[in-house]
Amino acid sequence: MANKIPIIMDCDPGHDDAIALMLALSSDKLDVLGVTTSSGNQTIEKTTYNARRICEFLGRRDVPIAQGRSAPILNDGRTAAGAHGETGLDGPVLPEPVAPLSPLTAVEFIAKTLEESEEKVTLVPTGPLTNIGTFILAYPHLIPKIERICLMGGSIVSGCSDKGASEFNILVDAYAADIVFTSGIPITMMGLDVTNFSTIGHDEEKEMFRSSGRVGKFVAELADFFGRGFKMIGWPGVPIHDACAVAWLIDPTIFESKDLYVELDLNGENTYASTVADFYGISGHDPNATVCLKSDQKRFVKLLLDACKSYEKEGA
Ligand code: RIB
Ligand code: CA
Repeated sequence: MANKIPIIMDCDPGHDDAIALMLALSSDKLDVLGVTTSSGNQTIEKTTYNARRICEFLGRRDVPIAQGRSAPILNDGRTAAGAHGETGLDGPVLPEPVAPLSPLTAVEFIAKTLEESEEKVTLVPTGPLTNIGTFILAYPHLIPKIERICLMGGSIVSGCSDKGASEFNILVDAYAADIVFTSGIPITMMGLDVTNFSTIGHDEEKEMFRSSGRVGKFVAELADFFGRGFKMIGWPGVPIHDACAVAWLIDPTIFESKDLYVELDLNGENTYASTVADFYGISGHDPNATVCLKSDQKRFVKLLLDACKSYEKEGA
């Protein structure tokens, strides 16, 4: 087996974060060194509690979990309770966590893990970039130990927030996102352009998960709650935004991408926190991100379903 890719998941579970975690922890291509939590979908206390419950449910008490900052670097915090509910993970019933929370903060955990790792580590943020941006400012000497930042966030073509042209993860902490996109660290960007269409179908596909076993049933129940609004507007399925960032690491051929120069807009009235891409290379800037724009939805669903089934195998 080729060497596993060492990663740290930085997330704000969050229904789609939970599915991303499930996928990451199931893959024999990834070595999840730990999970750090961000505030976004819900408060930091709730997203951290959810991360611990998810790992307990998946039988992964071995995975260190470190709590992140309670608010964005500069903006005032906001949550997405409308999409993820009061708990941040409304819908499925999950066990109480048993493994203790790490005594380190998220940023301290990332630093310690990078210092101790013999290999470069890939960071996989699927929530606001507060922890990652803070880490880059606080530990510049450890930047060379980062292989890549493979993030869910932004949108080159379509916006999705009350600010019009921005995406939630970037909107919550646009200054942290600017630190990331100007850091020089290799970036893979999974924006709404691709994640909105990387879906689990509302009916037949979702029922395949529900009947596939304990973990598949969990994913179906996450999709039941998270998919309410999408079903109401006639969207063809439930976008599993965050799992795209993990799926790309496991099988990048599921996606089509373009290397682009991407810049944060921190000043616009209606375009604040948008990720502006130079599609035609006319800005004079070299590309700073591999931007995924399309996915093979059937292969994406199969990857998720196979991951769910892998937990049903003996000793999984
Ligand atoms: O815009 C999608 C992002 O916002 C996802 O990370 C989802 O979890 C929500 O946080
Ligand atoms: Ca998220």
